[in-house]
Amino acid sequence: MYKLKEIADKVYYVGVNDRQKPLFENMWPLPYGVSYNSYLIVDEKTVLVDTVDVCYSDIFLKKIADALEGRPLDYLIVNHMEPDHAGSIRLLRQQYPHVQIIGNSKTFGMLEGFHGITEGLYEVKEGDSLAVGHHVFHFYMTPMVHWPEVMMTYDATDKILFSADAFGTYGTLNGGVIDTEMNVDLYWEEMIRYYANIVGKYGNPVQKALQKLAGLEIETICSTHGPVWRTHKEKAIAIYDQLSRYEGEEGAVIIYGSMYGHTEQMAEAIAYSLSAHGVKNIVMHNVSKTHASYVLKDVFKYKAVIVGSPTYSNQLFPEVESILHKIQHREIKNRLYGYFGSFTWAGAAVKRLAAYGEEMKWETVGMPVEQKQGMQTDNYAACLELGKAMAEKLKMKN
Ligand code: FEO
Repeated sequence: MYKLKEIADKVYYVGVNDRQKPLFENMWPLPYGVSYNSYLIVDEKTVLVDTVDVCYSDIFLKKIADALEGRPLDYLIVNHMEPDHAGSIRLLRQQYPHVQIIGNSKTFGMLEGFHGITEGLYEVKEGDSLAVGHHVFHFYMTPMVHWPEVMMTYDATDKILFSADAFGTYGTLNGGVIDTEMNVDLYWEEMIRYYANIVGKYGNPVQKALQKLAGLEIETICSTHGPVWRTHKEKAIAIYDQLSRYEGEEGAVIIYGSMYGHTEQMAEAIAYSLSAHGVKNIVMHNVSKTHASYVLKDVFKYKAVIVGSPTYSNQLFPEVESILHKIQHREIKNRLYGYFGSFTWAGAAVKRLAAYGEEMKWETVGMPVEQKQGMQTDNYAACLELGKAMAEKLKMKN
């Protein structure tokens, strides 16, 4: 019944779209949904690569049954055990009791922990290969992209890399599956946001994986989320490469909290000055309103990070503190840093922002601005100076 997209000779897309969950990992907004991609190779042996979130197992199993046309499923390759991909393994095993599950030793520990499965396992190690007829698969261990058991599978016959989460993005597949058959504009910003939210902490492992895969001739990338990359595969790789090296584009993200608008006025003055001195990419986030998911995206995207906070009970404004913690958790490196803050009777925010910049080992640019109560002429001028200093530094760096 189901029409399945054939990505290459007898390689079918059997993934699903999730337009129901409001939050990925119960944290990150999904305005455009997300896809859980799975692929079925029908050769002398039949091979499934990853499964899908258990919420979609019914439609998923029906698609597989249609593609198999009565044949058994011989192998399941598990590139990643996170439940958005591994959630349907137990049900799949019930449907196909003789399926051999291919993974590494870490995969199998998780397989037992999540699903109680300890039998019918086929262990692979770095560099191992498996011929299933016309197709020959090679296995590459890519730990911490973004769990320790993650591996990638390369189909040497059709030059397809099944890359687990790598090169993935938020956003469902709206009819088309391969990038050649769709407008992909929407996905690039969503890819950065996905990376910043999910993979962001693991820059070094991503770099190691990219180096390991550098020698492979890749025509198609089949990630577990988002389009199959063919025409745009270089761009997808370049985005992951840039983000995992923590290289920011020329531009500034101003992150601020403000209870009554006084700190916000400082942010406005700094933004005005950045623009007046030639910075075109300026993003402002009021942290009480913008979800952290989007703030993180822009911190990964841009070179300059300018943070402002009121003093709140002798601390940072709690919402500012919360986003700073999330940034710190991702160990984002090599940023140009400016900061400012305000207080009513005793200042603490600016002191704490100074300490934060040191902890992050970011390069402080310009003089921090501390404002008592409302905006005064000298504070306004100081904010303009901070914006100017950052603009000049950005121009020097690019
Ligand atoms: Fe899409 Fe790390 O799971």
